[in-house]
Amino acid sequence: MRNVDLNTITAAAVSSFAGLPDARQRLLVQGLLQALHGYAKQVQLTHAEWRAGLAFLHRVGDISSDTRSEFSLLSDVSGFSSLIDMLASDPADAAVTPGSNLGPFHAGGSPWLDNPAQLIGDNAGRRVLLRGRVVDQDGRPLPQARLDFWQNAADGLYWQQDPQQPANNLRCQLHMDNDGAFAIATIRPVPYQIPLDGPVWHELVQPAGLSGWRPAHFHLIVSAPGHRTLVTELFDVEDPYLDRDAVFGVREALVGRYVTVNDPAACTLLGVSGPECLAMEVVLRLSAAD
Ligand SMILES: [Fe+2]
Repeated sequence: MRNVDLNTITAAAVSSFAGLPDARQRLLVQGLLQALHGYAKQVQLTHAEWRAGLAFLHRVGDISSDTRSEFSLLSDVSGFSSLIDMLASDPADAAVTPGSNLGPFHAGGSPWLDNPAQLIGDNAGRRVLLRGRVVDQDGRPLPQARLDFWQNAADGLYWQQDPQQPANNLRCQLHMDNDGAFAIATIRPVPYQIPLDGPVWHELVQPAGLSGWRPAHFHLIVSAPGHRTLVTELFDVEDPYLDRDAVFGVREALVGRYVTVNDPAACTLLGVSGPECLAMEVVLRLSAAD
């Protein structure tokens, strides 16, 4: 390899990883090397730019933690997360609920609650009921499905960002009932800005003159045996930021509407006196696993 040069360096680097035993990992690594080398040649990357890029990635790592992923945020504002969501969706069935961003504030270990769940606690904000059913491609209920749910509080922050909130505020995991149904008594989430204290905002999004706002949303991960796990979000049709989401997460099929329901049981769950309360109803449709 003494005579490696500009014309042979890419092939040399790619072939050096030919011994990776796992075929998929080999494809991922070698494909990435091809793309990175091609990028550097395309833009004629300089030493200074390369070092600056590495330093940026260091800063992205430095501010990340178990409960906050600046790398996820970087992926989100790049549209890369949405690209992966689209690649993972089932193009053969438009009826399947589309995926959307995981976002930087998902954390494992969310508490398991009884279904219907009560998350309101001491939270300020408009009380709403999110209720729906998890079904398969043919509309059959999936009672064995599980839901991982999280959202922000009335101040726009997730519990990890806000020492004023109790741990695990406004998040839970649920088992579906026998009809594949679930209900969560919560507060209406609010629009929020992506984190403004990190390198993704200061060095990329803000200098580009972009908005950091995200429309209000619920986050959900829905899983069921024999089906593709769905990572998605649910939006509010009345939200002013629907058409300028900083992370490209909005899909028409994920935009819901809060409606006033005359439902004493729902109102009791929400702790709302009187016969009427606000609810969003959804159907989450999973595709069969490959
Ligand atoms: Fe979010």
